[in-house]
Amino acid sequence: MEWFRLTFQRLRIRFLRLAFHALYYPFAPLYDKISYYSFLGQWTKWQQTAIPRIQGKRILEVGCGTGSLLTELLQRGYKAYGVDASPRMLTQARKKVEAVGFQGRVLQAHIQHLPFPDNSFETIISTFPTNYIAELEVLNEIQRVLYPGGRLVIVDLALLKPFSLTAKVLLWLYRVVLGYDGRGGPGVRLPLAQAGLIRRDETFEDEQGEAHVIIAIKAW
Ligand SMILES: C[S@@+](CC[C@H](N)C(=O)[O-])C[C@H]1O[C@@H](n2cnc3c(N)ncnc32)[C@H](O)[C@@H]1O
Repeated sequence: MEWFRLTFQRLRIRFLRLAFHALYYPFAPLYDKISYYSFLGQWTKWQQTAIPRIQGKRILEVGCGTGSLLTELLQRGYKAYGVDASPRMLTQARKKVEAVGFQGRVLQAHIQHLPFPDNSFETIISTFPTNYIAELEVLNEIQRVLYPGGRLVIVDLALLKPFSLTAKVLLWLYRVVLGYDGRGGPGVRLPLAQAGLIRRDETFEDEQGEAHVIIAIKAW
């Protein structure tokens, strides 16, 4: 029985890795629709929980994906840039950003090597990062490009509440098929202190769900 459980667990992890890779590369044009319908329209709201936690005007969004939050930031007057590793995600992001009149705000880069000088941004945002956010190399790189006193805002995970029948069915599917129950996201084990960042945890909650936000401040 234990053997069966472990094999199932390994297969599930492998399946999820493949599925997410497919979503960020060949299926990137479907990313917005999939994230919208998979979380019953809550995704954008959860991404935007980062906005009231922003400090300053110079913002970098790492792992910006299809650029929805980046576009919102630009429209609100922030001097914002986005980086992502996937050219397919960035094609979507570029379309959105250019549609609201901005050029050159989206760059292809790995978060491990950000193409910016030291002390460039007042806030760095990361919404729904994959496991890269738990790498010390990544946090050191983020720390490097943050202003002293600047902050990293991470929305690391969120969970729907059973507010409707569809939400209940989805929650059941996520638990049984994906093993996801909204706990234990990448945020629980971040080596923030090792990277010189001082951590604070916050929760956004409403009737439809809740999102967990980490704010990590670079010491002066
Ligand atoms: C779950 S998506 C989140 C996208 C967006 N932030 C959102 O809230 O919808 C993770 C994103 O991180 C990007 N990514 C993964 N590893 C990366 C890395 N090492 N450097 C830059 N981007 C990376 C993926 O291409 C993908 O767009």
